[in-house]
Amino acid sequence: MGYRVLLLGSGGREHALAWKIAQSPKVDKLFIAPGNAGTSSVGENVAIKADDFESIRTLCLNESVNMVVVGPEDPLVKGIYDYFKSDSELADIPVIGPSRAGAVLEGSKDFAKGFMQRHNIPTAAYRTFTSETIQQGKEFLRTLNAPYVLKADGLCAGKGVLILDSLDEAEKELEQMLGGMFGNASSRVVIEEFMSGIECSVFALTDGNDYVILPEAKDYKRIGEGDTGLNTGGMGSVSPVPFADEEWMQKVEDRIVRPTVTGLKAEGIDYKGFIFFGLINVDGNPKVIEYNVRMGDPETETVMLRIKSDIMDLFEGVATGTLAARKIEFDQRSAVCVMLVSGGYPGSYRKGLAISGIDDVDGSIVFHAGTTVKDNNIVTNGGRVIAVSSYGQNLKEALGKSMGEAAKICFEGKYFRRDIGQDL
Ligand code: AMP
Ligand code: GLY
Repeated sequence: MGYRVLLLGSGGREHALAWKIAQSPKVDKLFIAPGNAGTSSVGENVAIKADDFESIRTLCLNESVNMVVVGPEDPLVKGIYDYFKSDSELADIPVIGPSRAGAVLEGSKDFAKGFMQRHNIPTAAYRTFTSETIQQGKEFLRTLNAPYVLKADGLCAGKGVLILDSLDEAEKELEQMLGGMFGNASSRVVIEEFMSGIECSVFALTDGNDYVILPEAKDYKRIGEGDTGLNTGGMGSVSPVPFADEEWMQKVEDRIVRPTVTGLKAEGIDYKGFIFFGLINVDGNPKVIEYNVRMGDPETETVMLRIKSDIMDLFEGVATGTLAARKIEFDQRSAVCVMLVSGGYPGSYRKGLAISGIDDVDGSIVFHAGTTVKDNNIVTNGGRVIAVSSYGQNLKEALGKSMGEAAKICFEGKYFRRDIGQDL
């Protein structure tokens, strides 16, 4: 019998995962909960929130789901893996995603830093402070050079990192953070050394013993061209990343990926899923900025294009602990994703605006991010609306293709960056 897969999540990442999963001959049925207007073209959307464990349970039992793939971090941090393991009727259904203990790698920056320190994984020097140790925090800041990096320990929807130019500002922000600026998430604050270099996202899939490394990618977080303006959820991505050549990726594997997988195992942490290494290239040496316990968005919208292998074969390897016997093959072409966003984003923006032209796109792949269906029409439903991903012989050609096709999709206030990947 083939796989009956339930994919959790609703963004561009999930549409890209769904697109790739649906191509597998091993799949009989794909459900996406809750999905978006795009995922319904490759599977069946079910109106269940990704963290509504009880409804997910019912769906899995009623529909004989035999694999769950988790897109976003939220259900993982809330323990969906453990929920399945501890329920006699669900225990045999593999969940692609770490246990709650593993998800702490993303859920607590302090834990992640400690983990890297214990396993000798290169990262910025740091210390963690609470409201009781605020004075020591200020003293530690004085031992560092500008700019100053302050991180809320817990999940803050991507907003918990502050980079400040002056000591004065840094001290004030430290007070604010420890005073509850991000609620409980900033009751502990990590202060770390600033690292200068170009960032790169590396992804591995692990079964707890072995791993495969997926194509690397780079995302573009700022709203404006030339990396200016406010941070967003991501305005585009590219893969491959030219500086991440074979030699550099070997360093990543030897110094970061393998020690992470062995470290998780050594600490008794059950981890079967994606690991996202947010890296920075410091003078030719990769260092870890952060871990995430899921795929990146919008990196997935290019990474999936560059995986030639059947992704279900890899998931099966994770589920059965046989990843060592599986091979991953890359598509040698380049991929670029351009994100079309709502006017006003990342500030306030309107929703429910009609989207036209999606069917005119030819030769690029359209991944929906924030869309929904209203009165039989596809309308905007978020800040990041649609990702247009394309192949090319190089990044420039792929970008040109995405921009040409992106021009065909229309909604009021549409904006996108035209320089994705051009800095490389
Ligand atoms: P994070 O949420 O930890 O990924 O941090 C958000 C962004 O802040 C990263 O993508 C980097 O651009 C930047 N950042 C975080 N930590 C550092 C650091 N130690 N040095 C330089 N930039 C950093
Ligand atoms: N693109 C960065 C992230 O998914 O966190």
